Formats: sequence, C-alpha cells, structure tokens
Amino acid sequence: MKKKSVGFASGIGFILAAAGSAVGLGNLWAFPYKTSANGGAAFVLMYIICVLFIGVVAMISEIFIGRRAQANPITAYKKANKNMGFFGLILIAVPFIITCYYGVLGGYTLRFAISSFSSVDASMVGSDLIAFSTNRIIPVVCTFIFISISAFIILGGVKDGIEKSSKILMPSLFVILIFLVIYCLNLGDGVVEGLKYYLYPDFSQISFRSVLVAMGQAFFSLSLGMGAMMVYGSYTGKEINILKSTAMICIFDTLVALLAGLTIFPAVFAMDLQDSRLSGIVLMFVTLPAVFSKMGFMGKIIGFLFFFMVAIAAITSVISLLEVVTQFFIQKFKISRKKAAMIPAMLCLVISIPIAYSLGDFGIAEVGGLNAFGFDFLTFLDEITNAVLMPVAAFVACITVGWVIGAKKATEEIEADGTTKLGWFKPIFQIMVCYITPLFILIVEIMGIYTSVKANPNYWWIVGFAYGLIALCAIVYFAFLKNKNTGTNADEID
Ligand code: TRP
Repeated sequence: MKKKSVGFASGIGFILAAAGSAVGLGNLWAFPYKTSANGGAAFVLMYIICVLFIGVVAMISEIFIGRRAQANPITAYKKANKNMGFFGLILIAVPFIITCYYGVLGGYTLRFAISSFSSVDASMVGSDLIAFSTNRIIPVVCTFIFISISAFIILGGVKDGIEKSSKILMPSLFVILIFLVIYCLNLGDGVVEGLKYYLYPDFSQISFRSVLVAMGQAFFSLSLGMGAMMVYGSYTGKEINILKSTAMICIFDTLVALLAGLTIFPAVFAMDLQDSRLSGIVLMFVTLPAVFSKMGFMGKIIGFLFFFMVAIAAITSVISLLEVVTQFFIQKFKISRKKAAMIPAMLCLVISIPIAYSLGDFGIAEVGGLNAFGFDFLTFLDEITNAVLMPVAAFVACITVGWVIGAKKATEEIEADGTTKLGWFKPIFQIMVCYITPLFILIVEIMGIYTSVKANPNYWWIVGFAYGLIALCAIVYFAFLKNKNTGTNADEID
C-alpha cells in the first residue's frame, strides 16, 4: 500500500476552501436581515469589531491547533493536553448536528433555484412555501440531493474534491454576486430606501442581546468554534502563511455578507414589497421569490442566479462540516474515505427528516407538529450550536493557545514555519488570545444567555441541552477515547 499525502496542494486552494466554508447561508441570508433588524450600520460596526477582536484571533488559533497536530480535532487537543481531548469530540459532534439542519435549508435552496423558472403569482408565493415545506417527500428528496452532492465532493478527497471544487465554485459565486449587486442597485425607485433600511445607523438598538447576535453571527459566518477551520488547518503545511490567510478569509467573508444586503434590500424596495416580512425564512423563501416574480422575465434569470449562488455557498459550507466528521471516521476507525464519508452523510439524512417536518409544520405552516419546548427543531439546534456551543468552543481554542500551549510558545511556533511573519501583530495577538478575546466571549455569552432566558424561559432548555451535550462528550471521551489512539492525517491511506 502506498501512502498518499493528504492536504491542500496550494495556499490559494486552502484560502478558497476555507472561504468556501465561511461563506454560506450565514452571509447571504442571515447577515442582511440581522443587520437591518439590529441597527443597520451600527450593527455592521459591532460585527466588524467582533471579527477583528474575536474572529481573527480565534481563527488563527484554530488553524494553528490543527496545523501543528496534522490530525483530527481530538488528537489535536490531546497534543496540547491529554485531558482536553474531549473538546475535540465536541468539535466533531457539533458539525454533525449542524449538517443535519443546514442540509434541510440547502435542500430548500436547490428547490427554489429550480422553481424560479416556473411562474408563480407574486401573491401566491407564501402558499408555495407552505405547500413545499409541509410536503412529506419533496423537502426530504431535496435534502437528500443536497447532502449527496456534498458527500460526493468529499469522496474526491481534500485536494481533488474539496480544493478543486472550491477553486471553481468560489470565483463563480463571487462573479454572480457582483452581477446581482450591479443589477439590483440599478433598479431605480426604491433602491435608496432599500439601502437606508439596510444600513441606516441606529445606535439606540445596541444592547447585550444585539452584541451577542453580532458575535454569534461572526462565529457562525467565519465557521469558528467548531472543527471546520481546525480540520482545514490540519491539511496545511509550513508553506501557508496563517496570518495572511486568516486576513483574506475574514475580509472576503465580511465583504460577501455586506454585498448580499446590497442585492436583497434594494430589490425588495424597488419591487415595492417592503411591507412583507423581511427576516428569517420568510425573507428568503417568500419575499425574495415574490420580488423576482415581479421583475417579469428578467426575474426568472435573476431569481435562478440568486438561489444558485446561495446553493453553491451552502454546498461549500456543508462540505467543510461533513469533512470534520469524515476525517475523524477515517482516522479513528481506519476506514476508507468512501465509507467514512458515506456513513455520516447517511446518518445526517435520517436525522434531517424530522427536522424538515418540524420546520414545515411547526416552524413555517404553524399548524403544530414536532417541536422542542416551543421551538421548531431547526431553531432549537441552531440556538444550541450558535448561542452556546460555538462561543464555548472558541473560548477553549483561545485558552488552549494562550495558556495551555502558551502565547509566547505559540507565536514562536507559528513563525517557525518560516512563512508567517506576525510582526507588530505579535504582541497584540499574545494579549488578545490570553485576555481580551476570551473575556469578551465570556461576558457576551453570560449576558446574552441571561437576556435570552429572561425573554423566553424555555431558553433554559437550550442551555441545558448544550451543556448536556458537552457532558456527554466528556463521558464518551474519558471512557472510550482518552487512552486510545485517535489517529492522524497520516492514517489516510490510498
Ligand atoms: N460559515 C457558514 C455560513 O456562514 C456555516 C458553516 C460552515 C459553519 N461550516 C461551519 C459554521 C463550521 C460553524 C462551523 O453559513
């Protein structure tokens, strides 16, 4: 048997794949409406502060932890401290959960890309979403297709699957986005109102809850607080400049998020649909289709391009999530990439079925049905991961680099690759990773949970489940994984 070197072939390949992970539904859909609902440019400012003070530091930390271990997150954390290995297990469990609900939404984007060609009366698009989402078969089929495409890319391996597809898909996405921005900004009447709605700064909106929203959004959008960046980092070597790559990923991700709002709101206002609901699932799958259908023939093309772009973004994000689980399966159970990709993909499919039903009946059609403490399953899982587990995981990543490995040793190790020069950023990084970033996360997390629980006492269930999952990971780790070999990248054999 010949050993095959797993890993990215080039620096730009890594950056595009990581950017592909980062750019997803979080940018194209969640960011615009969260911005408009939380104070416009004031929110953008908070968001950028979160990216600079937390995102950059956490991303460098995660990529570094992965790269120095050249292994899955469990082995990577073990390398820092054997007892910390269980955090690695959380980083593998959570992407698995996210894949299950992200896949449902990914299926929706495929369906709406295709249906943008059929004509639906603008007044009917709401019932179109209800009919689709409450259907027992079609959403499941769409999810199946979506996850299968992602699994298929992963089967090709890191270099020939993930890297190659990102090199095609990410530039295509950007070209489509630029085209859509130009088109939508030239729709005439309403464009300026749309921009005002999106960006008009309202500083009175800033509260702990909105800072938590900005921070959670930054984590989710940058794919942080989860295995993704650690795993992609593990596939890189000394030739990759961690600082420059991180800067590029963060800039690109933020740019795409900002641009997405420049297509959505001008189009909504130009088509006179500003009185519709402009947030959540309704914005994406009711209001926007209505906007496109009011554009006449051009709307079919614009609508298709829009949803096609969202589908691309969602696919490159899901492959990064599935790869986390796949990598662990390959390395822990010493099985082929084929098997390791198919098993989690199939499990996710099964779990996604109740999520799809709950979203349709309980979340969208509001006719009751499967729910958890008054949340549809998607919202429930989304809150568990975004509001609790991701900040915790990012906190741990910073503490690991700052204190367990040691900030000084870590920066020396980072620069020892001969490529990364931290320069003036070095002392800043050391202070941030030890104190500022973890403290910032902690404060926002505690205050955010406090305000969420006050607003809805059922939120305790979300917090409880999240910490229950952490406890479960700890039990499994200490019982079954701590003293066992958990593998490295070298275990992937051709
Ligand atoms: N960043 C993606 C988005 O904005 C979602 C995502 C993909 C993600 N991989 C991740 C989030 C890993 C957290 C961790 O939609």
